[in-house]
Amino acid sequence: MLRSPASVPDPLWQHLRQHQQEHALSWWDQLDDAERQSLIEQLRDLDCATLERLYFQREQSYRVPDSSAIKPLDIVPAESPDNAAMRAAGEEALRDGELAVLVVAGGQGSRLGFEHPKGMYPIGPISGKSLFQIHAEKVRALGHRYGKQVPFLVMTSPATDDETRRFFAAYAYFGLPKEEVFFFCQGTMPALDLASGKLLMEAPGRLFLSPDGHGGTLTALAKSGLLDLLVERGIRHIFYFQVDNPLVKIGDPTFVGRHLMSRSEASSKIVPKQGPKDRLGNLVLVDGRCTMIEYSDLPDALAHERDAGGRLRLWAGSPAIHIFDVEFLARVTEGAGLLPFHIARKKVPYLDSEGRIVQPTVENALKFERFIFDVLPLAERWLVVETSHQEEFAPLKNADGADSPQTVRSALTQIAAEWLRSAGIEAPSVPLEICPLFALDREEFVRRVDRSQRIEGPTYFSQR
Ligand code: UD1
Repeated sequence: MLRSPASVPDPLWQHLRQHQQEHALSWWDQLDDAERQSLIEQLRDLDCATLERLYFQREQSYRVPDSSAIKPLDIVPAESPDNAAMRAAGEEALRDGELAVLVVAGGQGSRLGFEHPKGMYPIGPISGKSLFQIHAEKVRALGHRYGKQVPFLVMTSPATDDETRRFFAAYAYFGLPKEEVFFFCQGTMPALDLASGKLLMEAPGRLFLSPDGHGGTLTALAKSGLLDLLVERGIRHIFYFQVDNPLVKIGDPTFVGRHLMSRSEASSKIVPKQGPKDRLGNLVLVDGRCTMIEYSDLPDALAHERDAGGRLRLWAGSPAIHIFDVEFLARVTEGAGLLPFHIARKKVPYLDSEGRIVQPTVENALKFERFIFDVLPLAERWLVVETSHQEEFAPLKNADGADSPQTVRSALTQIAAEWLRSAGIEAPSVPLEICPLFALDREEFVRRVDRSQRIEGPTYFSQR
């Protein structure tokens, strides 16, 4: 057994020993002061008891509810007769400054071959604007329209934090007041060796850590003090979305109004799935609660089940667009550790006992993530609203094929062509793009566009 190296704080050594993790200090004597300090910080943040529990529960993988326990949800159709009233209610809340906007941007663009935060990816079909810029301009346009600045919360991860902050600063926060953009970094979780449950080391002075999933938003919001700040500022609702979808209608007043009027604690949009195996979360009703079954957990048979009319039983896919009540989030965050961890088996390079880096060829590690949508069943009142891929969902995930830069740019062009058509203007098939500061929605576009113009080539409708 290892002896406690001199200068390791005793409580830390005891804690590691109690959980048989003291090997993390094997290289202590070779570390310089800075490395020792950062290793201590990593180890101090560890909750070894939880890790131990997760390791022992590794075989009890997440259980998808039985088909018979899954019931259809009540879903509000996109075109509802009361949309105008809902919109008016949402606009009032926006004028009263009750909304904040939160984007989860902890992911990198590795699958796109883009080794930066995904939000930096240049996606505008003509402007080449980044995802971050498109989102920030929507937030800015909301502020202009309703006369109240909307706080923009950007959740990063240790891998994206620094570069994201520098990117926003380099672009002068895309015209948003700097003090209205709040960055906060999600937490991390260590990876455990699959065979032994031991912490994996990435280097002699460093644990292997990875982001704790977007479920980490809740703890990170609370830890950063932002949740308290929102409460102090009278913010009552958070509009939540993922950085990879430039079509999202940020702060959609009709959605906000419906959320308010139904006193929902957690509201979600859904899009009809295009096929049984779409890589989307599936919203369903289980035990009377709104629940998400993630695509990666969905058994084939359940995915293919159809109702009497031939429609997929699990047809409601999640574009990951929600509104959460601040009070609800504060309530569920109080019991930290409330959301379950999802356990994944992965290949993780690690330092062996001889101090050599091993590149595994088979899964050798357990990684742990929390998912934000696991808060949905905790809501006493919820709401689900239908939208469509064309209107609101074109995620950027892959370098080519489905959900690639090409399909996302073409979706941005399509929506612009649609809005032009609504204004009575026909467009040939050329790239088109509408700056959010020119128009945030179809109605505004129709009002502002010069209807006498002819579209002959690629056209960008920019702020005037
Ligand atoms: C995700 C959702 C899925 C949804 C789909 C819609 C999960 C587990 N599933 O799938 O239900 O239907 O998007 O596009 O998310 N992120 C962080 N920190 C993390 C992990 C992710 O900020 O620790 C952010 C990423 O930056 C990204 C988003 O969460 O914006 C989604 O992550 P991604 O890995 O792309 O999820 P998908 O598998 O596509």
